[in-house]
Amino acid sequence: MPNAVVVGTQWGDEGKGKVVDLLTARSDMVVRYQGGNNAGHTLVVEGRRTICHLIPSGILHPEKKCLIGNGVVVDPEVLLEEMSTLREGGVPVGPDNLGLSEKAHIILSYHRAMDAAREAAKGAARIGTTGRGIGPAYEDKAGRTGIRAVDLLEPGTLEEKIRSNLEEKNFLLKEFLGAASLEFQPIFDRCVAVGETLKPYITDVSLEIEKAERAGRNVLFEGAQGTHLDIDHGTYPFVTSSNPIAGGASAGAGVGPNHLHHVNGIVKAYTTRVGAGPFTTELTDPVGDYIQERGAEFGATTGRRRRCGWLDLVMVRDSTRLNGLDSLSITKMDVLTGLDSLKICVGYELDGAAVESRPCSLERLARCKPVYEELPGWKEEISSARSLEDLPQATRGYLDRIEEVTGVPIAVISIGPRRDETIVVKDIFA
Ligand code: IMP
Repeated sequence: MPNAVVVGTQWGDEGKGKVVDLLTARSDMVVRYQGGNNAGHTLVVEGRRTICHLIPSGILHPEKKCLIGNGVVVDPEVLLEEMSTLREGGVPVGPDNLGLSEKAHIILSYHRAMDAAREAAKGAARIGTTGRGIGPAYEDKAGRTGIRAVDLLEPGTLEEKIRSNLEEKNFLLKEFLGAASLEFQPIFDRCVAVGETLKPYITDVSLEIEKAERAGRNVLFEGAQGTHLDIDHGTYPFVTSSNPIAGGASAGAGVGPNHLHHVNGIVKAYTTRVGAGPFTTELTDPVGDYIQERGAEFGATTGRRRRCGWLDLVMVRDSTRLNGLDSLSITKMDVLTGLDSLKICVGYELDGAAVESRPCSLERLARCKPVYEELPGWKEEISSARSLEDLPQATRGYLDRIEEVTGVPIAVISIGPRRDETIVVKDIFA
């Protein structure tokens, strides 16, 4: 069976978790390739809702191996907490079904402190980060001062690195950002303890994938966030610090790009964004409130109310190119039920002329005006539909238009939060 990559085509929160869950059932191994505990997906364990930020939801299938790739930045406290919450809920978690790349970079308390202090110092110009230390950890990775999982197992190297990092961080925290400095010993002691606990899980992810493939197994690569939060291709600087795009799976898991056989792009039926930055189709009216409430659009990690707007197919078209999308999964279609008419943004206009793709200059992007097509809405609840034929004509018209404008076939349509509230149009593993 082929490998597949699942990517968000918007600003994250597209409902990837449910599609990943669906595709996990057909995969032997699930690998997270970027981001950290800025992401979050809700799992229902023993009837209890649990939000996992690092461990792939594949962990609920005991026979699947879940791996956290080198491209992920890992807060070990969060990882350990998720492991114990899952175990309390009766989910077995051990080195047989979970692995952490030895090359993954570790988030320490000074990263969280830097994230918070920087955002506070920026005031109105803040990015609206999740405050989890993600950016500062990736900065250290690029600056070649980061602590990797493998370092947790070598106290000598660890001590040297933490001491030298802390010297610089404390100077910045205290002298530049006006925040409290941090002490070496508790950080170091905790890292050593955490290293002891995580030792059996720390592995060579790239090699594990190769071995699995040789044994005829297939792999699902799970991206976090979305294409327009990509550090290179998103609305910089209002982006995350990694590459959620499909190509990120190659670097972030340690596989050649020819191992990424199928790329499925998740498109929420409307657009949302948490954090700051331009949002061309944003709705700040009762329709936006309707979508926000019906879609329960609150951040899984921060609980922030998400900004809502019409579906922006200029964004999705750019995502089609940036990820090489083979198929789409449309999520949360049921949220749009009840509206008289719906708008889809099919183009942008800038200074009276059409633009081909989203301008990279934020100044130009902020001046882009959406070009809308208006489509009829539907009033019937659609969650019980199990095939395209069960959907109202207007719902099908909306889906058809997405396919026409993006040029990508729809494989999956999600019409409710439950697993069975799904229409599979195409088998992506065929
Ligand atoms: P950071 O990733 O915490 O540095 O945050 C940078 C930007 O990405 C902010 O606008 C966050 O709100 C956004 N962001 C990070 N993770 C997610 C996510 O999983 N979903 C949606 N937005 C996210």
